[in-house]
Amino acid sequence: MKKIVIAIDGYSSCGKSTTAKLVAAELGYAYIDTGAMYRAVTLYFLENHVSFTNPKEIADALANIDITFHYNAKAKRNEVFLNGLNVEDEIRKMYISNQVSEVSVIKEVRRALVAQQQKMGRKRGVVMDGRDIGTAVFPDAEVKIFMTADVDTRARRRQQELLAKKQLENLDTIKQNLEKRDLIDSTRAESPLRRAEDAYLLDTSHMTIDEQVDFVLDKVTTRI
Ligand code: C5P
Repeated sequence: MKKIVIAIDGYSSCGKSTTAKLVAAELGYAYIDTGAMYRAVTLYFLENHVSFTNPKEIADALANIDITFHYNAKAKRNEVFLNGLNVEDEIRKMYISNQVSEVSVIKEVRRALVAQQQKMGRKRGVVMDGRDIGTAVFPDAEVKIFMTADVDTRARRRQQELLAKKQLENLDTIKQNLEKRDLIDSTRAESPLRRAEDAYLLDTSHMTIDEQVDFVLDKVTTRI
């Protein structure tokens, strides 16, 4: 069977990663969470006091950053490592969510991560989720999905996700963070969040995860 690239883009907390993971498992494909890569860079910048506006500091930092994914069989998930250290839990915390979109606008950061993502998907057989996969990373992806959902639903889902990790966050704080990130992500100069012309629109406001997965798999069957 032909191996393809499945690009899943969209707003924050629409269920992109949950859907992408299940689609990848169903097809035996690799799943790549590109948001985790921007989060890992943000963690490095914060820990090392890298100025978001100093090109030299940014270039030096990027030269020292190594991001890899490793499968944790016990947790049954891919986890992100920053310079050999497992940062999967740390990068999901609110202080990273609050800064990540500011780091994601930096064009040197985008160029470095997009190049790495293209390398990771060069053999195809991947499901990649993010903001610019169908427009910038793999404009030739065989299946493109653009996910959206109303912001209250998204905030509630994110709150549940955080709660499952024992992180208690106020619903309004989460909603404000989602709206702020959506705004920065869709108005930045370099590869902004937008729906590719050939992407299927998937509004998950009133859908179950199974329905979302079926929607994507249905589009995939016509392409493999
Ligand atoms: O997917 P997640 O919500 O973890 O992404 C965190 C942030 O990383 C996004 O709000 C966005 O600023 C950035 N991002 C991006 N391009 C991607 C993936 C994520 O700019 N392909």
